[in-house]
Amino acid sequence: MSSTQHIIQFILDDKIVTIDFEKQGISPTLTVLNYLRSLPSHKGVKEGCAEGDCGACTVVVAELDQTEKLHYKAVNSCLVFLPMIHGNQLIAVENLAIKKGNEIQLHPVQQAMVDLNGSQCGYCTPGIIMAMFALYKNQKTPSRKIIEDALTGNLCRCTGYQPILNAAQIACKNGNHDRFTKKEKETISLLKKIRKRSIAITALNQKYFQPKTIHEVFELLENHPNATIINGSTDTALKQTKKFELLEVIIDLSAIDELNFYQEKENEFLIGSGLSLENIKSNLNGALLAFTEMLNVFASKQIRNLATLGGNIATASPISDTIPLLMAYKAKIKLRSKTRERNISIEDFIRGYRKTNLQKNEIIHSICIPKPNKQIVRFYKISKRKDLDISTVSAGFRLELSDDKVSDICLAYGGMAEIPKQAKSTEKFLIHKEWSLTNIKKAADILKEEFMPISDARSGAEFRKIAAKNLLIKFYEETKLQYASA
Ligand SMILES: Cc1cc2nc3c(=O)[nH]c(=O)nc-3n(C[C@H](O)[C@H](O)[C@H](O)COP(=O)(O)OP(=O)(O)OC[C@H]3O[C@@H](n4cnc5c(N)ncnc54)[C@H](O)[C@@H]3O)c2cc1C
Ligand code: FES
Ligand code: FES
Repeated sequence: MSSTQHIIQFILDDKIVTIDFEKQGISPTLTVLNYLRSLPSHKGVKEGCAEGDCGACTVVVAELDQTEKLHYKAVNSCLVFLPMIHGNQLIAVENLAIKKGNEIQLHPVQQAMVDLNGSQCGYCTPGIIMAMFALYKNQKTPSRKIIEDALTGNLCRCTGYQPILNAAQIACKNGNHDRFTKKEKETISLLKKIRKRSIAITALNQKYFQPKTIHEVFELLENHPNATIINGSTDTALKQTKKFELLEVIIDLSAIDELNFYQEKENEFLIGSGLSLENIKSNLNGALLAFTEMLNVFASKQIRNLATLGGNIATASPISDTIPLLMAYKAKIKLRSKTRERNISIEDFIRGYRKTNLQKNEIIHSICIPKPNKQIVRFYKISKRKDLDISTVSAGFRLELSDDKVSDICLAYGGMAEIPKQAKSTEKFLIHKEWSLTNIKKAADILKEEFMPISDARSGAEFRKIAAKNLLIKFYEETKLQYASA
């Protein structure tokens, strides 16, 4: 790799910090959470769950975009490996207040939490403050919905959410000026000094690569065919934090600009596999309504700021939220290796329980989503909690009617089989039939026999069957109304 470095650099406490993993004897998969807590001055960040669920570990990462503007995003530090913040500013809860002699001037979000009695236990509050700080930097007068979305990833078991939401509303009214705004020029010039270069770290029996181009990835895959590829790491980090696996060789794709793109063409959207779900959401800006609705109930803002679309489909999880919907959109996946490029349908990409069509020398390059023409596409998710929960059953449906008869239909379900799967027999029954309740009821009987879901911690098999049937009926009722009003 040309111009590769074995150290990482980032800004913390307004200074450039350099980490030489080998010399300092630090594992390259040390999480940002554990790194911060190893420092005497940064014990504010807390570990609650170590799996992205509680938000106690929330920190903010500020990064420079291509136009050299700073972007602030809240992330779960329990899921972020230290090299992933290379070239960025890391902001922890201790960085918000300003000390002036013996006086401490709280940040506006901290002050609002005090004034509105939002500050409760010391375990959750630092994470809540950081999620609120990211909101403060990104939104001037956010609606209640935006505030709730920003704080969905922070759990409080004493149920005191209302004062917290009120505090966020009051704090954000003051505009997003703060000590970070005043220092922005200085921070940007520091960040320019530590611009990202490819990284290759060897330390404590682990290798961690963070290439800048996909050509470097292909070279690395030749030498390390069994390497673990990561991007947002929201799935992979759990192997370490929960299963205590040693990730021996990691290839981190998060610094590759070529995978981090969004293009709207006349008939399709092209989405780089490395684009975070939150970036997809803001780029779509309401286009592909069903996709935006799916993202609204996908994990939390902290997770979506890290998680990528490529990462979600590569897991081939039976309860992935994106896969059934991509099936409904007839999405194509572009796979790249050193010598070839191939485009396959999302159905062909998924080969079995957590198995994909991806070869060892390949990566997912991008996802192509055709724009629905006359079709209606919908997404449904049934989970125990509305927010920040994995699907019990999910569904991506597509429908087109010609003269009240079904001319095109896709009924793709998650959580009903070992892979996200279309209800092919039910679809076959409905095609060319009238879109009527009588036919839907008959289709529901076929649907009941089509899947043999399992019973697990999320629900019993029978519940899943009933839910799948009811989603079909719901889809019928909603589309009937839509067609009636068209
Ligand atoms: C708290 C929490 C909540 C969650 N909620 C949801 C939810 O609501 N719905 C849902 O569907 N999922 C959910 N997930 C799962 C996870 O966030 C998603 O699967 C996420 O999209 C994975 O993306 P990533 O970039 O973080 O993947 P990573 O963890 O980086 O990678 C995941 C897998 O993809 C592979 N991979 C990544 N990028 C590429 C590429 N370009 N080419 C080839 N292989 C690649 C990796 O090798 C790895 O096997 C949740 C996870 C957590 C921790
Ligand atoms: S420790 Fe719970 S989200 Fe990170
Ligand atoms: S703030 Fe910690 S449990 Fe409510």
